[in-house]
Amino acid sequence: MSDQTNSTTEAAKTGEWVDLCAVADIPANGGKFVQLTKHYLAVFKLGDGVSVIDDTCPHAGGSLASGFVSDGCVHCPWHGWPFKIEDGVCPDNPGIKVKAYPARVVENRVQAQV
Ligand code: FES
Repeated sequence: MSDQTNSTTEAAKTGEWVDLCAVADIPANGGKFVQLTKHYLAVFKLGDGVSVIDDTCPHAGGSLASGFVSDGCVHCPWHGWPFKIEDGVCPDNPGIKVKAYPARVVENRVQAQV
């Protein structure tokens, strides 16, 4: 996981848009780690927009934000499991997934409903 922590206070209620980071903070072919009070998140560019999924790989806890992105999937840096950045589903085993959150860009900032 990255050592960067988002200082934004997490939404007090479900459905509130939370500011995560600048779009420019998301590396090419990789993810941006953002820590909120109760969530570790991985933020990715997705087409002209962004996606936000849980950062922790369900296999053994690798940080998906530290993985590399190809063909619409982030590949876990520890053992290579892929997860679609669009919805968090593992294409090799659709029964395995990480949670995906609604995400949007407002004035070049990434926001998500967590
Ligand atoms: S910890 Fe992610 S594939 Fe093993």
